[in-house]
Amino acid sequence: MKNVEKKSLENAYRLFEIGDINNIEVGTTKGLQQIHNYLFDSLYGFAGQIRNKNITKGGFRFANALYLNEALVKIEQMPENTFEEIIAKYVEMNIAHPFMEGNGRAMRIWLDMILKSRLKRVVNWQLVDKTLYLQAMERSPINDLEIRTLLSANLTEEIDNREIIFKGIEQSYYYEGYEKEDYINNLLKQPLGPIP
Ligand SMILES: Nc1ncnc2c1ncn2[C@@H]1O[C@H](COP(=O)(O)OP(=O)(O)O)[C@@H](O)[C@H]1O
Ligand SMILES: [Mg+2]
Repeated sequence: MKNVEKKSLENAYRLFEIGDINNIEVGTTKGLQQIHNYLFDSLYGFAGQIRNKNITKGGFRFANALYLNEALVKIEQMPENTFEEIIAKYVEMNIAHPFMEGNGRAMRIWLDMILKSRLKRVVNWQLVDKTLYLQAMERSPINDLEIRTLLSANLTEEIDNREIIFKGIEQSYYYEGYEKEDYINNLLKQPLGPIP
C-alpha cells in the first residue's frame, strides 16, 4: 500500500477509535465533507473541498461541476426514513461524486452513519464482495436494485463491534485497489484506545 493510502487508512481508523465520528453531521453534505477532510487532510490538497472540475469513471459522467452545489443541497434534503430511501440518497450522492478523489471511501462511512442513526444497522462490508459491489455501483445510476439487494443482505445490528467496523474500513480501501496487509489485524489485537 502506498504511504498516502496507509496514512488515510490510519485516519479512518482514528476517526472511529477516538470517537471523532460522533462530532460529524449525519446525512448532510457538510458531514460528508467532514469525513473526507478527516480521511485525506494533508494527503490531498482538496481534502473536504467540493470539486470544480468535471470527472468521469468507466465512461460515466458524474454531476456537472457547474450544478454540483445545487445538486448537493437537493440530495442532503432527500428523506432517510427507510432502507430504500437511504440507498436512493446514497446512489444520488455517488452520482454527484463531490470530490476529485476519495468519494467511495468517504461515502461508505457517510452511508453507515445514516444507517446507524436511522435503522440501528450498519453494512458488514467485509462480507460484501468487491466485484459485485463495484458492478452494482456502476449500475446504480440506472437502477439501484442491485446495490439495494447486495447491501440489504449484509446489514448487521452489531453497530459498535470494533472488528466489524475496522474490517469494514479495510474492505472499503480494498475496493479502491489497496491490497490488504496486516495493518488492521494488528490494530485489532491492541486494547481499545487512541492509536500510538
Ligand atoms: N462507473 C461508475 N459509475 C458510478 N459509480 C461508480 C463507477 N465506478 C465506480 N463508482 C463508485 O465510485 C467509487 C470510487 O470513487 P473514487 O472517488 O475513486 O473514490 P476512492 O478514491 O475512495 O476510490 C466506487 O467505490 C464506486 O462506489
Ligand atoms: Mg479512487
